[in-house]
Amino acid sequence: MKIFLDTANIKEILQYAFVIDGVTTNPTLMSQEKTGYNIREHIAEIARIVNGPISVETMSQTAPEIVREAEELATISPNVVIKIPMNEAGLQAAKILSAKKIKTNVTLIFSANQAFLAAKAGATYASIFVGRLDDIGHDGIDVVRDTIEIYRQHDFSTELITASVRHPLHVINAAKAGSHVITIPPKVLSLMFRHNLTDAGLKKFCDDWAQLAKNQGPGL
Ligand code: E4P
Repeated sequence: MKIFLDTANIKEILQYAFVIDGVTTNPTLMSQEKTGYNIREHIAEIARIVNGPISVETMSQTAPEIVREAEELATISPNVVIKIPMNEAGLQAAKILSAKKIKTNVTLIFSANQAFLAAKAGATYASIFVGRLDDIGHDGIDVVRDTIEIYRQHDFSTELITASVRHPLHVINAAKAGSHVITIPPKVLSLMFRHNLTDAGLKKFCDDWAQLAKNQGPGL
């Protein structure tokens, strides 16, 4: 399962560049960055750091406008993937962009039927928002499981991205369900590195080593 970082923040991308395969942004994440920056240059900077797919969302509402905006965004870097909202205009645009070999990520998917349609439209990626489903009392991972089964049964090449991740257990459950990709917010990724027993174990090793050095003098 590939890991994408769910952020538009350059510092966070630099921090985790060693472990990630790509980046996903959205208008909300972009809006949290410093004001007055050039969006095109910001995306180009991310592309200089990460040698993998970088999802950038279109804000146009009709299929021809989405295609035009996508073609413009795709000139920033060959790694730019066009994020398109899940609706009729979006899927029409995804179909056209697929024929033009421009990569797409159909976003705001909340059901296996929507994920199925995204694959039929030739989307490169389909993003299922598990956290937002859990927030309203559904089981987001169930949708991931169903979609993976559909994609496998019917040999779709669309890759499923588990998105809207809230905690490390989402990562384990997405991996077990066979998700191709998971996009993880930096806060959740940082939790995945840690375990109290690791911290305690490391402290004991350091203390014991210091004691040994005191008893035997410096060096090995
Ligand atoms: C990623 O592609 C999505 O935009 C993101 O995971 C949404 O996460 P949220 O539900 O925490 O806003």
